[in-house]
Amino acid sequence: MNIIVLGASRGIGLEFVRQYRAAGASVIATARDAAGLQRIEALGAKALKLDVTDPASISGLGWQLDGEKIDVALYVAGVYTRGGATEPPSREEFDRAMHTNVLGAMQAIPQVAPMVEAAGGKFVFITSEMGHIAGVDSSYGWVYRVSKAALNMAVAAAQPDYPRATFVAISPGWVKTDMGGADAPLEVGASVEWMRHTIAAAQHRRHVQFLDYNGQPFKGW
Ligand SMILES: NC(=O)c1ccc[n+]([C@@H]2O[C@H](COP(=O)([O-])OP(=O)(O)OC[C@H]3O[C@@H](n4cnc5c(N)ncnc54)[C@H](OP(=O)(O)O)[C@@H]3O)[C@@H](O)[C@H]2O)c1
Repeated sequence: MNIIVLGASRGIGLEFVRQYRAAGASVIATARDAAGLQRIEALGAKALKLDVTDPASISGLGWQLDGEKIDVALYVAGVYTRGGATEPPSREEFDRAMHTNVLGAMQAIPQVAPMVEAAGGKFVFITSEMGHIAGVDSSYGWVYRVSKAALNMAVAAAQPDYPRATFVAISPGWVKTDMGGADAPLEVGASVEWMRHTIAAAQHRRHVQFLDYNGQPFKGW
């Protein structure tokens, strides 16, 4: 099985590398600095340098992966923003979140999805319950919420262009990582183990599904 993890220097992405390697898969994973690349290589995966906010960096991905068939591609890279709707977001904060969480995924799809199609594989995007419009009850993390809702639309809209691939948007739950913090109820190992089962069980649908880490579909988007 061939896996690619985009954004794997630490946290959920690195844990996907660890678990898929332990399951015997061949894994390619990306990081944007030397320390992250080393952590990936230490797990026996092939490490590629990639900053998802840099279009030149992502367009290099296509030729670096030339000829690969990818069974599972994961877009994990993401950044969080604080602040709610009582303060205008700064342009820098807005751009950072939208470029990493949305534009990066939209740049990656045309590069990676053809290789997922070739394998009849799955393209998984780590989104968030915080981007669930139908369930929102607070503006906390306002820009982040907007970015994940936009990511969901990017994923849903792209699926028909790659009919032999299965696109899935998954929320990892609230997970103990640098982003999730120490109070999060889910250990990263448990979240990723659940998500691997959910990914393996995901079926191709005409409309992309937005799933919780444990496979439960969200009602609406
Ligand atoms: N933890 C949670 O509770 C939670 C909940 C819902 C959704 N999520 C989502 O899960 C994903 C992973 O989050 P995490 O909890 O593992 O967070 P994390 O520990 O903060 O890790 C974030 C990852 O994204 C990478 N990244 C950020 N900007 C990047 C860029 N420009 N190019 C390439 N990689 C970049 C980071 O790489 P660097 O080391 O280079 O910064 C790091 O590998 C994110 O999409 C996040 O929104 C997390």
